[in-house]
Amino acid sequence: MPRAHVVGWGKYIPQKVLTNDDLSRMVETSDEWIVTRTGIRERRIAAENETTATMAVQAARQALEVARIGPEKVDLIVVATATPDYLFPSTACLVQDALGATRAAAFDLAAGCTGFVYALAVAAAMVESGAVQTALVVGSETLSRITDWTDRNTCVLFGDGAGAVVLRAGPDSGGVLASVLGADGSGSDLLMLPGGGSRHPASHQTVANRMHSIKMQGRDVFRFAVRVIPMVTRQALERAGLTLDDVALFIPHQANGRIIESALRDLKLPPEKVYGNLERYGNTSAASIPIALCEAVEEGRLRPGDVVVCVGFGAGLTWGATVLRWTHPQPAPVPAWRQFLRRLRYALAAIRSWLRHRWWRVFTGRR
Ligand SMILES: CC(C)(COP(=O)(O)OP(=O)(O)OC[C@H]1O[C@@H](n2cnc3c(N)ncnc32)[C@H](O)[C@@H]1OP(=O)(O)O)[C@@H](O)C(=O)NCCC(=O)NCCS
Repeated sequence: MPRAHVVGWGKYIPQKVLTNDDLSRMVETSDEWIVTRTGIRERRIAAENETTATMAVQAARQALEVARIGPEKVDLIVVATATPDYLFPSTACLVQDALGATRAAAFDLAAGCTGFVYALAVAAAMVESGAVQTALVVGSETLSRITDWTDRNTCVLFGDGAGAVVLRAGPDSGGVLASVLGADGSGSDLLMLPGGGSRHPASHQTVANRMHSIKMQGRDVFRFAVRVIPMVTRQALERAGLTLDDVALFIPHQANGRIIESALRDLKLPPEKVYGNLERYGNTSAASIPIALCEAVEEGRLRPGDVVVCVGFGAGLTWGATVLRWTHPQPAPVPAWRQFLRRLRYALAAIRSWLRHRWWRVFTGRR
């Protein structure tokens, strides 16, 4: 049976930095409170013209470039997000069009902050079954658009960004070895965006009641997270036939430094085996694990043969862990001519997409 190997990785981090001091001028909080309670120092905020899809496209292009795979070779695109551009069409379809991935099926996956782990598990299973050869798995979020900037309980936690990996069928000696996914909908009210769906469609009232921004019971979510991370990590390792001693790198969802510390204590994992970038980006939900994975590879923290465990938890409630055996060496730098050709191809895809939309508007008489 083939396994799904990570052969490409990429990320997109918006330029604008929002520091804790900036936040202390917006709500009653302080750098000291935020750092000691969460470990976050700053987060990134998408520019006005950036969306979940545009950031996903940037991360995906980088991942395809590392993999040296053209967009026309991609069979499947899964975008994990809680902040899609639209309720429909899916963000994955916008990404598919912008990349020019003409052969790919595309869909979004909603599992809150566990979204990327869920998406990785689903895409890997499709690769293993032979249904697809090459899959692009993206986590992308524009949480700043659903944040209540007057609520100090939540606005200090979240940030924007995107991360992506390319999965490719390969030998069964490595790649995605095992995944465990879980859910408990009885905790759905602990972390939610109440407005804008079929239960509370957008209205003056939902806007007045601030129902279009994140609502969270922080303490309950905290307790849930410290319980499920060690549990699902052990379950996934057991399914892979490995133990905690085999783990070279542990990449937990970047939500709160105290949650991660508690999980490490429980699992007895030394801090040097953990990757974290929470202090720079805050909680980027479904984007946090692929961004961290990408940075870990870029910093040389992963070598062929290393076992990596990615663990997510979040709204739903949902949780999940994936165990991978890293097989990819650091890629050689892409020659300038190849980079030029790739950029040309993406520019042509963008022009083609723009012309299609423009033609449709002319055709229908809409401006
Ligand atoms: C949100 C979180 C940081 C709050 O930390 P906490 O130690 O649990 O804090 P509490 O909720 O008990 O609040 C303690 C006090 O700090 C206050 N407080 C909350 N946010 C604050 C802020 N940004 N600045 C200053 N004070 C704040 C509260 O109002 C409360 O004050 P009170 O005692 O006067 O009522 C923490 O619960 C958490 O991280 N939970 C998990 C959230 C998460 O990861 N969500 C995403 C999951 S994917």
